[in-house]
Amino acid sequence: MKPEIYYFSGTGNTLFLARTIAQKINAHLIPINTLLDKKRIELSPDVVGIIYPVYYMDLPVIVKQFAQKLDNLEDKYIFAVANYGGGIGISIVTLKELLKSRGGTLSAWFGLHMPQNAFYKAFENKKKVLENSRNKLEKVCKRVSQKKHGWRLSDYILYLLLLPISKLFSPLFETQLADSLDASPDLSMEELIYRADYTFQTNEKCTGCGICAKVCPVDNIEMKHNVPVWLHHCENCLACYNWCPNKAIENEIAQKGYYYHHPEIKVSDMIL
Ligand SMILES: Cc1cc2nc3c(=O)[nH]c(=O)nc-3n(C[C@H](O)[C@H](O)[C@H](O)COP(=O)(O)O)c2cc1C
Ligand code: SF4
Ligand code: SF4
Repeated sequence: MKPEIYYFSGTGNTLFLARTIAQKINAHLIPINTLLDKKRIELSPDVVGIIYPVYYMDLPVIVKQFAQKLDNLEDKYIFAVANYGGGIGISIVTLKELLKSRGGTLSAWFGLHMPQNAFYKAFENKKKVLENSRNKLEKVCKRVSQKKHGWRLSDYILYLLLLPISKLFSPLFETQLADSLDASPDLSMEELIYRADYTFQTNEKCTGCGICAKVCPVDNIEMKHNVPVWLHHCENCLACYNWCPNKAIENEIAQKGYYYHHPEIKVSDMIL
C-alpha cells in the first residue's frame, strides 16, 4: 500500500516539504485540516509521515488533535518532519508522547530550518535557507525510503541540549500571548491560540475579495457584507495575513509589515 503523508501548512513551507517527499517516495498527500470532522483516523499503510510547522516551540493545536485521533499504529514506520524558523522546540517530544498514547512509536524524526513566516529575522538569508533545506530534504527522502532512523548523533545531542531551554521558554510564550491579547494568564495555551484572532482586523486596503476566507485551513473566517469576520477557533497559521493580496490584515501575532510565503507555492495550492 502507498505511504501516506499528513501535513498542515499556513504559508506553504510545510506544503512544499510534504509535496516533495510525497513525490520522492510515491505517497498520498493528505492535508490534516480535511480530517477535522473525523472522530478516528485509521492508519492503513506501513509507512506514514507527519509534516508540520513548529508554533510556539510546540506542535500546532490541529496537529495535536490529529495525533490524538490516530488508530492502528502498531508495527508501522512513522516519521515526522518538523520545520521551523528557529528551532524544533518540544514539538517532537509532544508528538512522541501522543503517538505512544495511541499505541505507536515515532520511528524517525527530522528537523528542517525554513524561512520564518511570522517575523523578520535580520540575519536570515532566505535564498540560502531554502537552498540548504532542499539539500537536507534529499537526505530525508533517502532515509525515509530506506526506513532508517533520523539525523546523525550530533543533531540528536544538540536537540537534547536545547530541550531544557525550550521547556523553560514555552511558558514565556504563554505569558507573552496572554499579554498581547489582553487575556487572562489562566487560559490554557490552546484557548489563547484560538482567541488570538480577536486582534485581527482589516484596514482600508481590503477590497472584500474573500481570499483570506478561502485560504484559512480551518474555516475560521466568514465574509459578511464583503468584510472578513474571524470566528475564534484560529490556529495562528497566518495564512490569511500572508496571502492577502492587498496586505490589508493587521494583527498582534505577525510582525507589522513583514510578509512571507514559500516562493514556489501559489495561493491556489493552499485552497482545498
Ligand atoms: C504563530 C506562529 C508561531 C511560530 N512559532 C515558532 C517557534 O516557536 N519556533 C520556530 O522556530 N518557528 C516558529 N514559527 C515559524 C514557523 O514554524 C515556520 O516559518 C514554518 O516554516 C511555517 O510553515 P508553513 O509555511 O507551512 O506555515 C512560528 C510561526 C507562527 C505563525
Ligand atoms: S484577502 Fe485581504 S483584501 Fe481580500 S477580503 Fe481578505 S483582507 Fe480583504
Ligand atoms: S484565521 Fe488566519 S491565522 Fe487563523 S487559522 Fe485562519 S488563516 Fe490561519
